[in-house]
Amino acid sequence: MIDDKKIIVALDYNNIDDALKFIVNIDSSLCRIKIGKELFTKYGPKIIIELHDKGFEVFLDLKFHDIPTTVYKACISALSLNVWMLNIHLSGGCDMAIAAMNAKKDCQSDSKVIGVTALTSLTDDDCIRIYGCKRSDQLKRFRDIGLDANLDGFVCSPYDINILRTDNKIFVTPGIRTDGNINDHHKVITPQEALKLGSNYLVIGRSITESSNPNKELETIIDSL
Ligand code: C5P
Repeated sequence: MIDDKKIIVALDYNNIDDALKFIVNIDSSLCRIKIGKELFTKYGPKIIIELHDKGFEVFLDLKFHDIPTTVYKACISALSLNVWMLNIHLSGGCDMAIAAMNAKKDCQSDSKVIGVTALTSLTDDDCIRIYGCKRSDQLKRFRDIGLDANLDGFVCSPYDINILRTDNKIFVTPGIRTDGNINDHHKVITPQEALKLGSNYLVIGRSITESSNPNKELETIIDSL
């Protein structure tokens, strides 16, 4: 899959004014934008419309996880916003993942529908407590659900790609750092290393949003890839 726009900036603000102030200085030809629960819960489609108006493609990161019918309808709603990508959480199971893909088919949409695997904040101990098995075993289960449902790809840690690796699937990876600051991730990695491990798209939040010159930081990262 060849797509030179590899960076997805996580617009993790709780205030639309701050988000829009940030966006003004970002070149939409360099990246896409991820909208998560923080902004969408408060402002809804307005924020997506604003981003589209400014030329950005949007990844709507709401990690849908519910009964299949509800996820089907939620995906129909999300796809009606013309998002470039949306995600579901694979712990909702195979029928739920199939329902999401049925929504895509019924909307005749080209949007990418991807599955969240084990969050990058979860350690082996967390996975044993939640799923009753090690992280690597749970990843294999999520991979099989994603493949059975024919999702377009996975959200995962770059370190997990070797376990999930399959042909023709997109790997979207958070937990990327230019400064090694781990924050709430279990492990972090540089953009260059993430690409080497097979990542197709890098989700980068704080390394860019907290920079004193975000567009320059974005250009520096792109030049380094
Ligand atoms: O600031 P930072 O680069 O750590 O931001 C990471 C982003 O990736 C956050 O928006 C977070 O919600 C998201 N994320 C994700 N899936 C994960 C871990 C983080 O979508 N497994």
